[in-house]
Formats: sequence, structure tokens, C-alpha cells
Amino acid sequence: MPMTDSPLSLVAAACAAALLAACGGGSSDDSAQQQALAAQGKQIFRFETFGDEAQWTDKLRMHEVISQAVDPTTALSVGLKVDSEALPAAVVAGIQNGSVDLKSPATTIALLKLDAVVGLKGTVETVNGKDTLTHVGVTCALCHSTVDNSFAPGIGKRLDGWPNRDLLPGAIIALSPAVPVATKLAYNSWGKGMYDPRFNIDGQSKPVVIPPAYGLQDIHKITLTGDGNDIAYWNRYVAVTQMGGQGTFTEPRLNLSVTNGTTDLVTDKLPALQAYQLSLAAPAAPAGSFDTAAAARGKVVFEGPGRCATCHSGATFTDANDTLHPTAASVVEPETPSYAARSATKQYRTTPLKGLWQHPPYFHDGSAATLEAVGDRYNSKFALGLTQQQIADLAQYLKSL
Ligand code: HEC
Ligand code: HEC
Repeated sequence: MPMTDSPLSLVAAACAAALLAACGGGSSDDSAQQQALAAQGKQIFRFETFGDEAQWTDKLRMHEVISQAVDPTTALSVGLKVDSEALPAAVVAGIQNGSVDLKSPATTIALLKLDAVVGLKGTVETVNGKDTLTHVGVTCALCHSTVDNSFAPGIGKRLDGWPNRDLLPGAIIALSPAVPVATKLAYNSWGKGMYDPRFNIDGQSKPVVIPPAYGLQDIHKITLTGDGNDIAYWNRYVAVTQMGGQGTFTEPRLNLSVTNGTTDLVTDKLPALQAYQLSLAAPAAPAGSFDTAAAARGKVVFEGPGRCATCHSGATFTDANDTLHPTAASVVEPETPSYAARSATKQYRTTPLKGLWQHPPYFHDGSAATLEAVGDRYNSKFALGLTQQQIADLAQYLKSL
């Protein structure tokens, strides 16, 4: 792409990068600007570390761990994903014919050099004539992107916004030589697709499922507990307090103020990052993945005897913009420790439901493996008196959203 600053080429770049259907003749200046912002945000979402190498390299020494022990097979086994579109033809052929060694950490370093490991950003430099990983950091895509497995399990095209429910974030952090043994035990107990974004703040270890970062358009309460009024609030929280990015996060309700470094590398990236997430729609249920007749009956249960629509209301399936709920509204509660009690609001947001089919297990602790189990749980907890048929129909409806 030629390096020019003409507005037209910027818009063209935005269209190409964001694959936005609406690009072209009809779009107003405003939406063209939004698209350019979202395209910028896409790069940030995928590749920006906000300088968090200070945490992952200087403190946790993950570059050493990766160089010594993390071959691609190991990386895939802890749920890391490889972006097949970042692989040159020779590497693709090498993986196919077995000449690329998936049991060698040097191959992981080669993949990092290609920016092909989703959510990991490596700096690879030549030291004594050899490719050497000198820095590594993490990006939002680590937890909130996966791949479509079109090349091989764990290797395929990126799916941004889809939570990586195969990822073992705790086990990955526990590989660091800088983590004390007792803390490693906690990290190793978290399991797949689970992460506790408050563990390093309050010392309680009780992880929650990694949620989607798609389908958040028109929802003005962010996180399970509605801590922020916009996505940028929580993006700042994670970038600074979890990823270790350089910047500041302050939250009086939690008596929390964290500043990393002396240069703010977070603030100016938040508008574009938010625009990109708002552009990510929840993926539609695949054709044939649910029974349409049963789903139609389930809708009646959802809106009637199930009483689901009293909270899961409107087009977004949540009343979040109007209200948050006391802890008892979560079928997971009472739990110890209560996740809501650790949050800024001490309440729960009604979870939006679009794209449910894509991300089992359900509820913040991942305690319902299926949508049938969700129906069962509500039925007994709220004494709804639904029949097994109604619960089965309800599950088909939920699968269709
Ligand atoms: C280590 C894993 C991890 C990383 C990295 C991460 N997140 Fe998250 N994210 C989570 C978890 C877990 C939650 C759920 C917390 C909650 O809702 O209380 C979450 C919540 C969110 C939400 C709220 C979704 C909703 O339904 O309201 C958004 C948006 C989000 N993350 C975006 C991002 C962005 C953008 C980045 C990069 C700056 C990022 N996350 C980095 C794990 C991660
Ligand atoms: C009183 C308000 C309220 C009612 C009524 C309600 N929900 Fe919920 N729903 C919530 C809240 C709050 C959560 C978040 C709970 C959690 O994760 O701990 C939630 C979470 C869920 C989830 C999990 C979503 C995810 O991504 O993990 C599903 C599915 C769901 N509800 C479906 C239903 C169905 C089906 C009904 C009717 C049988 C129903 N809800 C009735 C408030 C409600």
C-alpha cells in the first residue's frame, strides 16, 4: 500500500482492513471516519501491547520461558492460536509436509516474528547470527480472539471478538519463573477460558469466563457487573491493571489507582479500540444449528412463563441501560467469594444474549455447560414450573439468537 495521507486512500485502507460491507459511494464523511477509526482499532486490538513488555518480559520473563520450552505443539495445547493468514506459503507447505518442526521453540519464535501467534507480540532480533526473542507482550486478542481452525485445530483465520475458551491464561502465567509457588497453584486452578481480572487487585482467586468482545453496540453498561458506562472504561482497566500496559487507571469505588511507567501509552488508543469493538457484531447462529420450530415455541416460553424477557429485554436482550440487579438475580449466587461483591457496582448486569451458541459454558463462573442446563437452573432456582419440553424449546430459542 502506498504511504500517502490522502483521505481517499485512508478510507480505502479502512475498507480493506475492516472488510466493511458499507464502504464505497454512499457512505457519509462521518461513517467513513468511523470506519477509519475502527480499522485503526483493529490493529490495536490485535497487535498493541501498550508497552506491557514491562510486565511480560522484564518482570515475568516470559521471553525466556518461550525460548526454552514453548514449542508450537505446547503453545497450541495451552490454547494459543495461530493466524494462518500470517503464514507465508513456504511455512504453510513446511507444516503440511512436516519439515517445519512443531516440537521446537525456535519455530514458535519464527511464528512470533511473523506476528502469527494470536495475542502475543514478540520482538525478534538477531543475536550472534540467530533469531532471538528479546521481548514479548500480550494484546487484547489473546483472550478475545480465536481462529476458525480452517487450516488445522488451533490454526486458521482470526475471529476477533470471539472469546478464546480454549485458552489457559492462568497456566500460561504460571510458567513464569517470577511467580511464587503458592500463586502458581492459584493460577493453575483456573482452567480453560477462565481468567480472574481482580486476583492481582484483591488477592481472591475465583475466575470468570472470558466473555465475547462482540455484540456490545447499544449496551452502555460494560462487564458482568456493569462497572463501566462504555467499553473504553474497561479497556483502560485491563490494559493497565491486567496486561501491564503503560498508563493510569483510577477507580474510586474500588479505592484503586494504578500507574505503570511514566509515559501514557493507553489513553490515545482507547477511542479507536472502542470503535473497533463496537463494529463487531455477534455472529449469527449457523444454518441448521437449531430446530426452528422448537425455537419459535421457545420464544413464547422466553417471553411468557420463563419470565426471561423481564430482564433480557429488547433487541440487545438486556435491561442493562436502565438497571443493574442485586446479586440474588444471578443463579450462581450465593457464591464465595461473590464476584459482584468484588466489583465496583457490587451488582450484576443482565448478560446480553446474542451469539450465545458460540460460547459455552454459561454464567460468569461457567457453571452451565449447555443452554438446556441454563433453563434447568432458572427453572429450579426461580421455581418457574416449566416442563422438560419447554426447557428444551427454550434452549433451541437461545441457540438461535
Ligand atoms: C487475560 C485475558 C484478557 C485479556 C488480555 C483481555 N481481556 Fe477483556 N475480559 C477478560 C475477562 C475475564 C472479562 C470479564 C470481566 C468482567 O466482566 O467482569 C473481560 C471483559 C471484557 C469486556 C466486557 C464485555 C462485556 O460484555 O461487557 C470487554 C469489552 C473486553 N474485555 C475487552 C478487552 C480489550 C479491548 C482488551 C485489550 C485492551 C482485553 N479485553 C484484554 C479477559 C481478558
Ligand atoms: C432477574 C433478572 C433475570 C431474569 C428474570 C433472567 N435472567 Fe438471565 N441473566 C441475568 C443475570 C443478572 C445474568 C448474569 C448471571 C451470571 O452470569 O452470574 C444472566 C445470565 C444469563 C445467561 C448467561 C449468558 C452468558 O453469556 O453466560 C443466560 C443464557 C440467561 N441469563 C438466560 C436466561 C433465561 C433463559 C431466562 C428465563 C428462564 C433468564 N435468563 C431470566 C438476569 C436475569
